[in-house]
Amino acid sequence: MPCELILALDVETRAEAIRTLEPLKGRLRWVKIGLQLFTAHGPELVREVGSMGFQIFLDLKLHDIPNTVAKSVASIAPLPVGMLTIHTSGGREMMAWARKAQADHAHDLLLLGVTVLTSLDTVGLNETGVPASAADQVARLASLAVDSGMQGLVCSPQETPALRATLPAGIRLVTPGVRPVGSSADEQKRVMTPADAAAAGADYIVVGRPILKAPDPAAAVAAILADLGR
Ligand code: C5P
Repeated sequence: MPCELILALDVETRAEAIRTLEPLKGRLRWVKIGLQLFTAHGPELVREVGSMGFQIFLDLKLHDIPNTVAKSVASIAPLPVGMLTIHTSGGREMMAWARKAQADHAHDLLLLGVTVLTSLDTVGLNETGVPASAADQVARLASLAVDSGMQGLVCSPQETPALRATLPAGIRLVTPGVRPVGSSADEQKRVMTPADAAAAGADYIVVGRPILKAPDPAAAVAAILADLGR
């Protein structure tokens, strides 16, 4: 399957969200709604974006006891959500319960594991009591996630080739940190172009500001899709 584009809808208000998406209808398939927008506007906005014809990646990075995470997955099931993130550091049981809830209530939902946040380097990770390098911990958590039923992983473009080489073929890899040629890296430290991220093994790329801040967001989407060969 060719690599797909996901727009990170990192805006503050419902009005801004709808205004941003209106000209992208029919051109873009996937939209990522994060914690900020979900906390402000909740399931109602998810339904509204879904009714505009977009597929939704709900990036809530769930991390709690297994029962609470499983019940949250069941609560998300009636919403038009195609992907949901779970923190893999919550452990095997938490992920397995989440997957069981997905199988019981939400067949079309893809559960994605988040490994080590890119904001955490090895020093920061060690401070939390994990005595591994960030890279080793990513590999360990990725393997645990797949073992525990996660169907995909969020990873940086740089992590993609190694994960692609070691994980089963059907595991979906979703990567932020992607920048079209000529656009600002913003505060992203290590970026790749859409085509390079796809070549590295990404199934989906997540792009926010290069589209949101473009003078013509629809043209920015078209350029990224062209780079992906879509
Ligand atoms: O604007 P930009 O393209 O940098 O947005 C990338 C999106 O991906 C944001 O929603 C950000 O929170 C998310 N993300 C990221 N890096 C990670 C994980 C998630 O940029 N390691």
